[in-house]
Amino acid sequence: HEWRDWLRALPKAELHLHIEGTLEPELMFELSRRNGITLPYADVQAVRDAYRFTDLQSFLDLYYAGAGVLVTEQDFYDLAAAYLRRAHADGVVHAEIMFDPQTHTARGIALDTVFAGLARALREARDTLGMSSCLLLSFLRHLSEDDAFATLEAALPLRETYADLWIGIGLDSSERGNPPEKFARIYARCAQLGFRLVAHAGEEGPPEYVRGALDTLKVARIDHGVRSSEDPALLQEIIRRQVPLTVCPLSNLKLGVVHDLREHNLARLLRAGALVTLNSDDPAYFGGYVLDNYIASAEALDLSRDELVTLAANSLKASFLPPAGRHALL
Ligand code: ADE
Ligand code: ZN
Repeated sequence: HEWRDWLRALPKAELHLHIEGTLEPELMFELSRRNGITLPYADVQAVRDAYRFTDLQSFLDLYYAGAGVLVTEQDFYDLAAAYLRRAHADGVVHAEIMFDPQTHTARGIALDTVFAGLARALREARDTLGMSSCLLLSFLRHLSEDDAFATLEAALPLRETYADLWIGIGLDSSERGNPPEKFARIYARCAQLGFRLVAHAGEEGPPEYVRGALDTLKVARIDHGVRSSEDPALLQEIIRRQVPLTVCPLSNLKLGVVHDLREHNLARLLRAGALVTLNSDDPAYFGGYVLDNYIASAEALDLSRDELVTLAANSLKASFLPPAGRHALL
């Protein structure tokens, strides 16, 4: 417990977190009742029992279905407020939060409903918890680039209103068969607009997708990136350029990216000098928030206290906070 308290007290940033992936079964049921939506589950336990995934797609199917209970501004507020409270309790001082607008607009939810609810929770966390956070609008890669452009066009009129929060864009959903090059034009446009760029790559997809995210999309960080180690030249470049990898150990375990945490390459990547960070991805689905990811990794991989301090420091260094903002949080 002493060790856990020490880990909790380390100031951490969470950089790879899908807000829709923080929907706990209890809140899913509450929102389904509130919105008159019938769930295909008898109770909370039945939801948890359904969370046995074989790969990324088997998870995404349930994750998109679960998000169907999110309808009102209050729903998005409740979702984000619960996450921020939980992350704050884990010693997270700064969170860069992804959201998937297309999952909601496809169901007829207005983009401003999503932004407004999330923003109210993030601003409240800043004012009441002293916790900083921001938003990364994430495009769904199983949809077309035109669909992503339509989403960007719909979101840009809101940019001023949420200028304190919406700082960047990301790319998520089904990786294999949807290479980064599919989104070359929209990333170029978002770079022009001054957005920070991240993308999922090398989770299930091959190292070539990490290469494409770096060279074609010109991202500042790679979400996951664990398969980069299959290409030694690529890994050397990631180390030399100190491209952050937002690694999510419990997610990788639950989705079969690794079969045992003791085989996870995050310790090898860290010891080789890569800028590795630890994150929770979709904590309500994968059975652990950020502190659980630190603890499970430390136990499985014999991480030293120095290495844990490095991982926490890396998370702040890899964040989009300006150095002065980072120091203010420590
Ligand atoms: N959307 C939510 N979590 C994801 C993940 N781990 N990979 C790709 N898309 C996602
Ligand atoms: Zn993710």
